[in-house]
Amino acid sequence: MKILITGGAGFIGAHAAKKLIEEKNEIVIVDNLNDYYDVKLKKDRLKIFLAGLKFKFFKADIANYRQLENISAKHKFDCILHLAAQAGVRYSLTNPWIYEKTNVAGTLNLLELAKIHKIKKFVFASSSSVYGGNAKLPFSETDSVDKPLSFYAATKKSCELLAYAYHGLYGIKACGLRFFTVYGPWGRPDMACFKFADLIRKNQPVEIYNFGKMKRDFTYIDDIVAGIASAIKNNFAYEIINLGNSKPEKLERLIFLLEKHLGKFKKKYLPMQAGDVAATWADIEKAGRLLNFNPAVSLEEGIKKFIAWYKNYYNI
Ligand code: UGA
Repeated sequence: MKILITGGAGFIGAHAAKKLIEEKNEIVIVDNLNDYYDVKLKKDRLKIFLAGLKFKFFKADIANYRQLENISAKHKFDCILHLAAQAGVRYSLTNPWIYEKTNVAGTLNLLELAKIHKIKKFVFASSSSVYGGNAKLPFSETDSVDKPLSFYAATKKSCELLAYAYHGLYGIKACGLRFFTVYGPWGRPDMACFKFADLIRKNQPVEIYNFGKMKRDFTYIDDIVAGIASAIKNNFAYEIINLGNSKPEKLERLIFLLEKHLGKFKKKYLPMQAGDVAATWADIEKAGRLLNFNPAVSLEEGIKKFIAWYKNYYNI
């Protein structure tokens, strides 16, 4: 397949690109390389992590339809893997506009591209955050997701709705994957695992929200990528599928595992942050049934792999 990957210099995007290139697909990556976090890390994912692999890269912004049109005019894509997003739950309280521009207008642009260029398959990133403060655990795809706690979550839910409308109107086959707190090598520095490691390296205190009582269904990147590759191979009309480890862990456990590898760190305990969700837990019955999804990497093993990469990348 010829696949357009948006956000291919991002954490999940680069890992997905690697797997899909190795599976002999033809890959075109678009990414705007914005400075939400260290641009060098994004460039290194393309230069070092994807070294020796064949792909085309275009620096383009999904919020700019003309840039996408120029790329699509030169290629005949079979599938769009849409992973570009303004990510991060907490930053959406500070700058909601960038979330609307990238996540809502950007997704609309890609759906228009799919419509106009007759790209039949659209696999896209959604988020566990759409479940908001739902009390029923684990989170199932059949649960109501009408009450987001953050603007980020609201834009992710919007992506699902936009894709549904385009599926109904234009027959685009769409599959939205709700990722649950993904971590691993080449990860995102704004997320807990990477952020904590950075703070320890700089000998600065780690801020721990909700006094460490948060629970997350931390999911290792290789498991997520297996789910993405499987979704691309399928031909669903329209599906929304959870991709999570289905083994929620207390934040305290993540801290314990990081300290095991990096030594004790200074902690500052804080209350719950606005927009944050207290606990996440994926029901993965549907992912197992439709995608043969079977996450294999425990948090302990995944953190070990993350730390090995982190120490090597930062020469520790
Ligand atoms: C993450 C991503 O940031 C989202 O892009 C993604 O959509 C979402 O996962 C998801 O699963 O859908 P989050 O679960 O908040 O959001 O992941 P982290 O930023 O890694 O935070 C994990 C936990 O650590 C949370 O409970 C958070 O409150 C806590 N945390 C984070 C701290 O206690 N201190 C920090 O400085 C950062």
